Amino acid sequence: MRYRSDQWYGGNDRDSYIHRAWMRRGLPRSAFTGRPQIAIANTASDLTPCNKHLNEVSASVQAGIWEAGGIPLDMPVMSLGETLVKPTAMLWRNLAAMAAEEMIRANPVDGVVLLGGCDKTIPALLMAAASVDLPAVVVPGGPMLTGHFRGVPLGCGTDVWRLSEEVRAGNLSQEDFLASESAMIRSKGHCNTMGTASTMACMAEALGMTLPGVAGTPAPDSRLLESAHASGRLAVDLASSGRTPSQVLSTGSFRNAIVALAAIGGSTNAVVHLLAIAGRAGVPLSLDDFDAIGADVPLLANLAPAGQYLMDDLYRAGGLLAVLREVSDLLDPDALTVSGRPLAEHLGEARIWDESVIRPRSAPLLEKAGIAVLRGSLAPGGAVIKPAAATKELLTHRGPAVVFDSIEDMRARLDDPALDVTEDSVLVLRGCGPRGYPGMPEVGNMPIPARLLARGVRDMVRISDARMSGTAYGTVVLHTVPEGAAGGPLALVRDGDPVVLDVPGRRLDLDLPEAELARREPAPAMTAALPGPRRGWERLYIDHVLQADQGADLDFLVGSSGHQVTRDSH
Ligand code: FES
Repeated sequence: MRYRSDQWYGGNDRDSYIHRAWMRRGLPRSAFTGRPQIAIANTASDLTPCNKHLNEVSASVQAGIWEAGGIPLDMPVMSLGETLVKPTAMLWRNLAAMAAEEMIRANPVDGVVLLGGCDKTIPALLMAAASVDLPAVVVPGGPMLTGHFRGVPLGCGTDVWRLSEEVRAGNLSQEDFLASESAMIRSKGHCNTMGTASTMACMAEALGMTLPGVAGTPAPDSRLLESAHASGRLAVDLASSGRTPSQVLSTGSFRNAIVALAAIGGSTNAVVHLLAIAGRAGVPLSLDDFDAIGADVPLLANLAPAGQYLMDDLYRAGGLLAVLREVSDLLDPDALTVSGRPLAEHLGEARIWDESVIRPRSAPLLEKAGIAVLRGSLAPGGAVIKPAAATKELLTHRGPAVVFDSIEDMRARLDDPALDVTEDSVLVLRGCGPRGYPGMPEVGNMPIPARLLARGVRDMVRISDARMSGTAYGTVVLHTVPEGAAGGPLALVRDGDPVVLDVPGRRLDLDLPEAELARREPAPAMTAALPGPRRGWERLYIDHVLQADQGADLDFLVGSSGHQVTRDSH
């Protein structure tokens, strides 16, 4: 059998000699003939603590590859630690995707196993794999085990937001808050809520890009290594059979992902990532598809932040496949997985083992859970809200705007006693979109002003061009398009303007006469040059990033370049 890597290793000329000789290092010549070379795109890094254990996972993948007759090649790729990277990991997602794509293509690789976990790593790897279109399978690193503090389970992310708000409200001492710190992260693995990392692992599985059943396996669970081993074996099979991501990523598989996203109460960040992956795969997918396909899907997974439990509960209760079995009538029956069989065919064995964690279809947590897409005079290109994480009474709301031009502006004034804000106000944050920040940080869930918190207010309508952490919650409108810095109407809002949110009607409006809006100039902060030197990746990003409704990819990275290499290096 001939493999792509034969372009490097086949033959007896000078170049194939060079390619083999430098790679021999104890390997026999037979390692380079008729055996698929499988790269393991590994995002393990000390600075990405959620992915730190992926070297161990890689060892199991390698064992599986050897066992199936392939040659494993560890390929460390750019990693992104969500909690550490400034100004925001999202600024670098496209760079990580571009670098992984180029290195997979540039090297003698016949297939690739993608090891990710922390928020941006799985999306970046899937974007890369879709663009290079070599056989690929994802192994999600898995969530951490649930930590407890004084007898109460801690959902990482979600409970940081909750506890810090209680400190601001005066209900929790700073000392107690800090005492919870060492209990927050109990084990290896990524965040244990249905945040972005858990969501994207489930999205990878719903898209068909993992072994069915692996998403959500806790990082310390030995079954993760068993699945990693099986994924290594599968990668060899994929390379031999030539099954590539373009045969898996289809309109039907994105439909399945959107249904899954709603049923698990997944992160709004998945909208941006799925749009970007679809853009790479050439699958037509629009913001409106999320509403059309997902809006009426029931919420079945009772997981924080929308519900009560955490990821290891989901796994013991039956996992993603048990959730999907409940909504199997909504799935595309033909959408393939890397197994070579449709996702729907993998649901037969799935069972719910704990109905308090995974609700049956007949008793959902919420009848309609999908992400709602809003449009109107404040969001002509669309905006999103996750009703499942919002306060029901606020889903229809009219209130005066309190506007902030940046997160620095918001932090400086939010708790100022002079700020004219009530619980009916609508907090508007702009300058936080892909281009304006740059990088579209997770700041859309603005804190509630302290004096309102002290009065017991825990939610308000908040609107921005930013994203929100998948572990956060509230009546928060996000991803407003166009963003303020790209000339969107968000730049025109002034303090006191009436804002109307109508989630059932899918509207987000600035209730002002059109003539008034036409007369207004954008706020100076929205047209001012960004401070500081802008060079390198940031320069490229600002000049080429697309808006959130197109996945915030770079315009020149959309689509696929395939895996051909046409020029030699020597
Ligand atoms: Fe890495 Fe949450 S910080 S997954």
